[in-house]
Amino acid sequence: MNNKQKAITLAFTGASGAPYGLRLLECLIAADYQVFLLISSAARVVLATEHGLKLSANPESAKQALVEHLKCDANKLIVCGKDDWFSPVASGSAAPKQMVVCPCSAGSVAAIAHGMSDNLIERAADVVMKERGQLLLVVRETPFSTLHLENMHKLSQMGVTIMPAAPGFYHQPKSIEDLIDFMVARILDHLGVEQGLVPRWGYDHRG
Ligand SMILES: Cc1cc2nc3c(=O)[nH]c(=O)nc-3n(C[C@H](O)[C@H](O)[C@H](O)COP(=O)(O)O)c2cc1C
Repeated sequence: MNNKQKAITLAFTGASGAPYGLRLLECLIAADYQVFLLISSAARVVLATEHGLKLSANPESAKQALVEHLKCDANKLIVCGKDDWFSPVASGSAAPKQMVVCPCSAGSVAAIAHGMSDNLIERAADVVMKERGQLLLVVRETPFSTLHLENMHKLSQMGVTIMPAAPGFYHQPKSIEDLIDFMVARILDHLGVEQGLVPRWGYDHRG
């Protein structure tokens, strides 16, 4: 990775909503980002359940399967193992300044809110926070418990963006893909990545 290359850390955790993560990955690579992808064990279960995509725990095999599935540029994707403490994302001296956890489980919210750093996802999030970078959590659970809300409140006060996986319907979605794109478009907007997935409010809704 050179200094001019756009880089981002993306984590899939075990909340429902695997298709959001996959679509986001596809869009980031298409936007020429170098993506450091972290996948929790529970995320692999959810990916298989919701998308029929079975990923190996081996980072290289998982990368190969994802590249084939998304038909994306292999050079843009680095899949990191959950204990890969030598990955650039594990250190403030090398980690990308932006990170998205999508989908983000309530468990990962709790771990991140308490600085657990017990696996590479938690450590990478901790690094982005300590370096005052941009961290987005696309949280999915319903209903939220008081504990979930307290954890999200704490993180929000620290500058973390809490983005519930809650697509709107005002763009008149016709398919599940339209709902997925709604969420992914909002995430890309926050990251400052140009996107044309969904018409913008106030531009295409005035009839
Ligand atoms: C199919 C499936 C769907 C799940 N959906 C959610 C969910 O929407 N939100 C959530 O917080 N946990 C959900 N879970 C539970 C988490 O996967 C579990 O708490 C796990 O420990 C999270 O670990 P991680 O954050 O390290 O991925 C789901 C689990 C499975 C197998």
